[in-house]
Amino acid sequence: MTSVSISDVSMIFGSGENVVYALKDANLEVQSGEFVSLVGPSGCGKTTALNLVAGFLSATKGVIRIGDHVAGPPDGKRVVVFQDDAVFPWLTVRKNLEYGPRVQGRAASADREAVEKYLALVGLEQFGDAYPKNLSGGMRKRVDLARAYVSDPEVLLMDEPFGALDIFTKESMWEILTTFRRESRKTVIFVTHDIEEAIMVSDRVIVMSPRPARITAEVRIPFAFPRHLDARNQPEFQALRQEIVRLLGTHRDE
Ligand SMILES: Nc1ncnc2c1ncn2[C@@H]1O[C@H](COP(=O)(O)OP(=O)(O)OP(=O)(O)O)[C@@H](O)[C@H]1O
Ligand SMILES: [Mg+2]
Repeated sequence: MTSVSISDVSMIFGSGENVVYALKDANLEVQSGEFVSLVGPSGCGKTTALNLVAGFLSATKGVIRIGDHVAGPPDGKRVVVFQDDAVFPWLTVRKNLEYGPRVQGRAASADREAVEKYLALVGLEQFGDAYPKNLSGGMRKRVDLARAYVSDPEVLLMDEPFGALDIFTKESMWEILTTFRRESRKTVIFVTHDIEEAIMVSDRVIVMSPRPARITAEVRIPFAFPRHLDARNQPEFQALRQEIVRLLGTHRDE
């Protein structure tokens, strides 16, 4: 795991009349091992920010660092999890998990152990030889998450990974993230529209303004892990939720 630093980053798409300012002078320091969520209005530039950190885009202005290095093109040190899972349909669950370490050329023996460990952590030890088409959407998402962790990246980037799931499946994903956090701490940038989700999984929630996105506020989440689902009923939790809703709304008055 390593830190991520976004310094004075702006991103402009297009030119002339079609110019779109997606990010403006964004600054964010994510500590090594920290789990940070980005929340903000639709179209403000959250995916753009992740794509810049992943190396899919290069910034119009500013610098992104992964640890001490300026972020270059995509590599195995940064893994992205999208809303639609990226599980390969032609590989079994186990082979999907083995794929990342294999393309990175790592020792097979250690990885076999990691594959079996993560299969068990997501409760799919009985499904190692199954093909994705025989799994539910929630199960495929578990494979997707396990695969991201097995490949052992320095930085994990997640773009609304649970956006398409029902609330019960989502809750089980939060528990899985908490278990993974215990087993293998990662530096994570997580984009979500779901404020409760952001509070459940994060060390810190970053609030972004409408496009061109600036970082307008941050809220530290003081609750210890593991966070239980019924924590949502606590007044402290609800107060934080309302604070984030308020922060998301304040720019309207600017
Ligand atoms: N490749 C591109 N070319 C032109 N404009 C783009 C490109 N990618 C993103 N944009 C624009 O940049 C802005 C920010 O888009 P982005 O996808 O980062 O928003 P977002 O915060 O992830 O939105 P959502 O919450 O809906 O996922 C939008 O206006 C979008 O249309
Ligand atoms: Mg997006």
